[in-house]
Amino acid sequence: MNKRLAPTITIDGPSGSGKGTIAQKVAKALGWHLLDSGALYRLVALAARNHGVPLENEESLQILAQNMDVQFLVEDPEQPPRVVLEGDTVTRDIRAEDVGRDASAVAALPSVRAGLLQRQHDFRQEPGLVADGRDMGTVVFPDAQLKLFLTASVEERAQRRFKQLQDKGMSANLADLQAALQLRDEQDMTRPVAPLVPAEDAIVIDSTDMTIDEVYTELMNHARNQGLVS
Ligand code: C5P
Repeated sequence: MNKRLAPTITIDGPSGSGKGTIAQKVAKALGWHLLDSGALYRLVALAARNHGVPLENEESLQILAQNMDVQFLVEDPEQPPRVVLEGDTVTRDIRAEDVGRDASAVAALPSVRAGLLQRQHDFRQEPGLVADGRDMGTVVFPDAQLKLFLTASVEERAQRRFKQLQDKGMSANLADLQAALQLRDEQDMTRPVAPLVPAEDAIVIDSTDMTIDEVYTELMNHARNQGLVS
């Protein structure tokens, strides 16, 4: 008999669209699990660097994707989980711009994507899952109960990323950030495997002129309409 799969909300979109913040807020409000799938691609990129694996070595990258020892530790529900790679805390390290760029490169490799699939499915547990990424609604959880695709103009996304980095005390240059975002979007949208596109049944929200709270309220209204929240 088929076991009932836990209810799932997917939030996909380009870098800096606010999906990570929204996903965390919704997961906390519902008391559901959270999957930050981008962190997994960032972890493969960092593990490759630590082990001296070149980004062209698809076979070794797949082995890393499947076998790297990763933990997401929820220590404070107000904060993103602590990320541990092979015993080291790398929560901040994986957010560096160059790790993001390498993540986008490894994410274009089909065997890396396949290597991470089971890990992502394992996050789907009761009472429910909020999953954020690029292909959550199209490839990883195509049967999700609610799918959101969050966009925003590249200028607005660069501004948000700039502010985020500043708040964390990390240095950044706005023009460089915007150029890097554009390049990453281009890579993510044009790759042959799991490109960044809205699922056919996704609700598309352009958050350029919206606050996080407005996006959150709209998403929760959809969740209520779907019977996912009382
Ligand atoms: O969301 P984040 O910026 O952390 O993702 C880093 C990179 O990982 C993205 O640029 C994208 O190439 C890749 N990614 C992906 N599929 C996902 C999540 C992230 O290809 N579901």
